[in-house]
Amino acid sequence: GVRIGVLTSGGDAQGMNAAVRAVVRTGLHLGAEVYGVMEGLQGAVDGGDRIRRLEWNDVGNILHRGGTVIGTARSKDFREREGRLLAAKNLIDRGIDRLVVIGGDGSLTGTDMFRQEWTSLVEELVQRGELPVEVAAEHPHLVIAGLVGSIDNDLVGTDMTIGADSALHRIIEALDAISSTAASHQRSFVIEVMGRHCGYLPLMAAIAGGCDYVLFPERPPAPGWEDAMCEQLRAGRLAGRRDSLVLVAEGAIDQVGKPITAAYVTEVLKERLGEDARLTILGHVQRGGRPSAYDRWMSTVLGYGAVMEVLSADPARPPRVLGVRNNRITAIDLGEAVKRTKEVEGMIDRGDYESAMMSRGGSFRE
Ligand code: F6P
Repeated sequence: GVRIGVLTSGGDAQGMNAAVRAVVRTGLHLGAEVYGVMEGLQGAVDGGDRIRRLEWNDVGNILHRGGTVIGTARSKDFREREGRLLAAKNLIDRGIDRLVVIGGDGSLTGTDMFRQEWTSLVEELVQRGELPVEVAAEHPHLVIAGLVGSIDNDLVGTDMTIGADSALHRIIEALDAISSTAASHQRSFVIEVMGRHCGYLPLMAAIAGGCDYVLFPERPPAPGWEDAMCEQLRAGRLAGRRDSLVLVAEGAIDQVGKPITAAYVTEVLKERLGEDARLTILGHVQRGGRPSAYDRWMSTVLGYGAVMEVLSADPARPPRVLGVRNNRITAIDLGEAVKRTKEVEGMIDRGDYESAMMSRGGSFRE
């Protein structure tokens, strides 16, 4: 029968478990065998019990759990051809030639390279005498499907990446908590949020959390912004506002591309406003905890979609990423999505912030 491998790779994100569960149960429902590749692509390199057959009940009771129960890693071995040879052998030994990969754009691109190399890896294994020629002949291609797992919501082509909605909820809970203590003391708080080079989390959190000021990569502030920011906060105080919240993306930069750190912003508030400012770095709290209802729903339908994709995809066609657009499962070309994502990052590097912002409109990064 058909054998599908499922793995999570790169940074974990809430909802990955829901996706793994959906892949396993959809696969079983359709008569396939499903194998969990533990600790990301490293598990494929290691083989042994790192590639485990998963049954219906093995993925019970994980829908609501954060993180990924099958583990994740950024594998160094997989970057070497020798590691990928081992991975190909371990997968073929178990009859696996279809993979569902849940990870960020780096993991998805890495897996696609593996897919492109597959034929040459298999040939080499045969030449080395590590794989019987008739077994190799049964697995001429590797078919892959990607799901984007990342709290950053940084892939062009999908409305949301797995984990972004939960991370946003976590940030909002923290902002609500901070705002009550801030208001009690009439204090200013600087809060640093994740998102790498993508402003989705900071911008959405600033709006949903009612913040006073936000700094994020796609909209670097004009020189002299420190004064403008202080002026705005001062006006808020005069109007009776008791708490001031300034959100700083971890990837915030100024117009010459220099990082703006949350610590610096805190110092500015202390010095120029003469205020008792405090800094909170939310850190990995944002990536932990239970997935939101949206992430559970989305990951479940995407896990289903990924199995349909690996069972029906033409191996000659470039691989696709499953994502949600307008509340529907949509398959998008992986290479194209990664290319367009890099283009947006290039716009920011070149200082073309307007285009970067525009191309992140409705779907944020488009
Ligand atoms: O990509 C997800 C993310 O949480 C980013 O927001 C952040 O910059 C990075 O990963 C942190 O990486 P690590 O978990 O390796 O510290």
